[in-house]
Amino acid sequence: MGNDGVAKGEASRPHGERAETGAAVLCGLRHPVFQAGMAGIAGPELAAAVSEAGGLGHLGGLRLPPACLREAIREVRRRTDRPFGVNLVPAGCRPAAFAAQLRVVLEERPAVLSLFQDHRLDAVARARDAGMVVMVQVGSVAEARRAFARGARAVIAQGVEAGGHLRGTTALLPLLSAILEIAEGRPVLAAGGIVDRREVRAVRALGAAGVWVGTAFVATEESRAHALYKRRLLAASSDATEYRRGYSYGWGFGAPHRVLPGPRRFDPLCLLAGGARRTDREVWARRISLYAGQGVGRIERVRPAAELVAELAAGFVD
Ligand SMILES: Cc1cc2nc3c(=O)[nH]c(=O)nc-3n(C[C@H](O)[C@H](O)[C@H](O)COP(=O)(O)O)c2cc1C
Repeated sequence: MGNDGVAKGEASRPHGERAETGAAVLCGLRHPVFQAGMAGIAGPELAAAVSEAGGLGHLGGLRLPPACLREAIREVRRRTDRPFGVNLVPAGCRPAAFAAQLRVVLEERPAVLSLFQDHRLDAVARARDAGMVVMVQVGSVAEARRAFARGARAVIAQGVEAGGHLRGTTALLPLLSAILEIAEGRPVLAAGGIVDRREVRAVRALGAAGVWVGTAFVATEESRAHALYKRRLLAASSDATEYRRGYSYGWGFGAPHRVLPGPRRFDPLCLLAGGARRTDREVWARRISLYAGQGVGRIERVRPAAELVAELAAGFVD
């Protein structure tokens, strides 16, 4: 499938009219359901399960040494021959480390590269030249304009409802509408607080080309999240998350993020945000503040990723 041919089709179609078909075609998917690349949580098991189910699975590449990233990409390929993506966070590591990760991605060439920040600009052009679809996660109209101008094929509009680190402060619906106004038919995915077909229908009605989902995939069998992390998600109510600008593991102080606060208010570990992996100590998973979006209150059980893909995909069926 020639990337350029699809881009022309995308650009000529008015937004809102079967936008999701364009996003699925662009990435070779059965369903325009995109699993967010989540550092430490989204490994080959999850990415492959989502892709096998017809969505786009994504490896969370942040902080993976290049050799591990390469091995993870190959592991996804051993598990599925469907398209999948790799997510990198340029600002989350030193320039040399990012350059080494990017080299691996360019050599291995997964179908999609998604970036949390686009300021290392040649990454977009280089991945695009290598034949990959490049998507950039954005939190404002200005950022979306910049991403498209630099060659992104799609943007992910991240509302402030989203779990994990945040690009902006605008809620998903106004952000999505505003970005669609300037997208000129190019695909815009919706991210933040989406957990089932009901939210999918809402963002589809606005013209979203697909959904980009994080927290709900943390609570799947294939995610690498600690069992206690998953349990805390299931127990949380919808008003339980907090927007913070404090400490988050591996990031500089002040980087905005959304968490489910740790249970003990005056516990120093409660001030620290992170994702707890199944290999982490129980005390960590029990006490830190855990990345979660505002949809968390409606996540009711841990299920296979394929079931979640089918549930979200149902929102795209008329
Ligand atoms: C545990 C967790 C880890 C995340 N890690 C990343 C990451 O490494 N790179 C990235 O681009 N976004 C990351 N995000 C943000 C997601 O890409 C996405 O914006 C968010 O999950 C969407 O909101 P939702 O969680 O309500 O579905 C993470 C989110 C969560 C919940």
